[in-house]
Amino acid sequence: MSTASVARASRVCEVRRSHRGVLEGARQSLGTAFTRFAEAPLVYEAVYTLSGGPLSDRRFAHAIATVSPGGAHVLDMGGGTGRASRLLPLDAHYVCLDNDVAKLRFFRRRYPSRLVMRSDVTRAAFKPECFDVVLCQAVSHHLPDDVVANLFSESARVLRPDGRLVFLDATKTERTTGRFLWRLDQGSSPRSEQHLRALLESFFEVDCWERFAMLHDYVLVVARPRSSVRPASAAAAASPAAAICPRRPR
Ligand SMILES: C[S@@+](CC[C@H](N)C(=O)[O-])C[C@H]1O[C@@H](n2cnc3c(N)ncnc32)[C@H](O)[C@@H]1O
Repeated sequence: MSTASVARASRVCEVRRSHRGVLEGARQSLGTAFTRFAEAPLVYEAVYTLSGGPLSDRRFAHAIATVSPGGAHVLDMGGGTGRASRLLPLDAHYVCLDNDVAKLRFFRRRYPSRLVMRSDVTRAAFKPECFDVVLCQAVSHHLPDDVVANLFSESARVLRPDGRLVFLDATKTERTTGRFLWRLDQGSSPRSEQHLRALLESFFEVDCWERFAMLHDYVLVVARPRSSVRPASAAAAASPAAAICPRRPR
């Protein structure tokens, strides 16, 4: 091959590489723009509804109803716009915990009398064993493994020994729509069902593990805190942050 044709071939490769870079950059910018847009409270609720949210809400509501005692105290970890509050029995005492102020404000405008807490899911400023039910819907896939472990540990800490976690999230899938949506969901940490279960079972004993499919594959889990995580709770009780309890523990 002559020097001229080697130079031409290397120029062609360079142009192809730069085109690939531009396309990848455009895909990432599109994904980031989509994620920002989809996170605005009103848009989030609309996208959720259009993507079949009410169907999974029905399953979630049924699971909540089966584990909620009368007048249940319910903490929604990563509750966002507080959608789950609409799925609860009327006598439930609901607290929406999230670190997104815009979503919490949106919720408070609709339901001024409901409680909100701006906090990280790994540091809920509640005393141990305050809640009958902890909800966690569509949150874990936003978080890396170590944070999800802390989210589960914190959920187990604030639950009464006979309380229940009701958990719902999408899992990694071979489904075409699911793979497409995960590509758009920038910064997400999709997990296989097995991976998720291993993380959750470090802190909870599973009562019910159900899978279903819509655009994504989902798991719906009802679980009770492991008694072995209780000693950690006692240590957490001494923390000055663990100061609030929405009612006296029973
Ligand atoms: C997809 S939304 C789900 C909201 C709500 N659970 C629902 O089902 O409509 C995920 C929520 O998790 C919240 N979130 C993510 N990481 C968080 C963290 N470390 N601490 C508190 N909230 C967090 C986000 O602000 C967002 O509101």
